[in-house]
Amino acid sequence: MSLSRRSFLASSAAALWLPRAGLAASPAILRAAPVTAQILPEGDGVTEMLGYNGSTPGPELRYRQGDTLDLRFENAIGDGSAVHWHGIRIDNAMDGVPYLTQTMVEDGESFDYRFSLPDAGTYWYHSHNRSWEQVARGLYGPLIIEEANPPAVDHDITVIVDDWRIERTGEMIEDFGSRHDFSHAGRLGSFARIIASVDQVRRGDRVRLRLINTATARIFPLELSGIEGKIVALDGMGLATPAQIGRLMIAPAQRVDILAHVTDTIAFTFPTRGEPYPMGEIKADGDNPTPITEPIPALPAADVPRPAAEPNQTATLTLQGGAMGGRHAGDDIWALNGISNLPDAPWRSFKRGETVRLSLVNETAFPHGIHLHGHHFHEVLDDGSLGPLRDTSLVMREQRRDIVCVFDNPGKWLLHCHMLGHQAAGMKTWVEVV
Ligand code: C2O
Ligand code: CU
Repeated sequence: MSLSRRSFLASSAAALWLPRAGLAASPAILRAAPVTAQILPEGDGVTEMLGYNGSTPGPELRYRQGDTLDLRFENAIGDGSAVHWHGIRIDNAMDGVPYLTQTMVEDGESFDYRFSLPDAGTYWYHSHNRSWEQVARGLYGPLIIEEANPPAVDHDITVIVDDWRIERTGEMIEDFGSRHDFSHAGRLGSFARIIASVDQVRRGDRVRLRLINTATARIFPLELSGIEGKIVALDGMGLATPAQIGRLMIAPAQRVDILAHVTDTIAFTFPTRGEPYPMGEIKADGDNPTPITEPIPALPAADVPRPAAEPNQTATLTLQGGAMGGRHAGDDIWALNGISNLPDAPWRSFKRGETVRLSLVNETAFPHGIHLHGHHFHEVLDDGSLGPLRDTSLVMREQRRDIVCVFDNPGKWLLHCHMLGHQAAGMKTWVEVV
């Protein structure tokens, strides 16, 4: 399904989203329940969805590095659920994966999540049960962890990038679990937009943009105008050297942090073969009389262990299946090394602290965003050097991508495609760190 063109979205998400819970005001309760959301522009129809604490996206949970997140998840959606804290190097028991790390939180039940937040950066949380449906219905939100000394900015702006499969009336199209979607690119939306936590800036302001692709399937190529700056973090982790912005390619679940100066209204567009699709904008009005002039700093590096020069183990994970020439392996649409869905025993077991080099070999006709729970890993660059730390790696069709990870976090960790229909249709496994 392609994107249908809609009128330009000039306004922010005020009616849709409680943008900021605030450091002190982080809710002690995160309650999942049905909500009515204004996904389409104001004045167009509303959408019946699921949300947390009355909104979708759920409230922005904001903490300081080293804080403890402590909240009670209450489930009132009429189905089992659990909350996964995507990208956090977390205690395994708090990872939010039903049947692997915790029991299902059934409708009417609650579960207490309590864990410390080791890394600053841009993260998010989302349902990890029937996620291809529950996330598509709205069960996700941003999780922002501030540095001890955050870089000076005039605005720290969270930008959700998403699409929704809805009718022109706003009504949700409830074809979740379509086999055609599962075997192709996933459940792509019919309407896309950004949801930004700030809707107005001044020329000359310095902004931090925290982009989060919360879509269940769509890889967003994004072009930004109206800013001059650098990419300073990927998947929450600061880059040693800030990078040129250029055209962004953000896979589902990936994050990009940008520090930049505002030169004009910040416009987000999705380049297509035809006309670019407008995703929304943050209006520039007036001039900042006292702009921040220091050069854009690098963010502090996270305290992630350095990989050993020689890996302790190597392994190949072959991505298989799907439509259009992919070999059907395993007993479902997608498979990893010939096995669909979670095996009873871990695919691999690692000793705590081992450096492992994994080759992700994509034999399918589709790109996949492969996510490892509980850790960050380096992508290996074409010249063989270690690239940035990530928690989700985009592997294009017929591409091979090596990653290097120090498995230092004990427990049972999922490794799966974050195109959530692919995950549902078999593209997942797990590893154990002992
Ligand atoms: Cu963001 Cu296993 O998920
Ligand atoms: Cu996939």
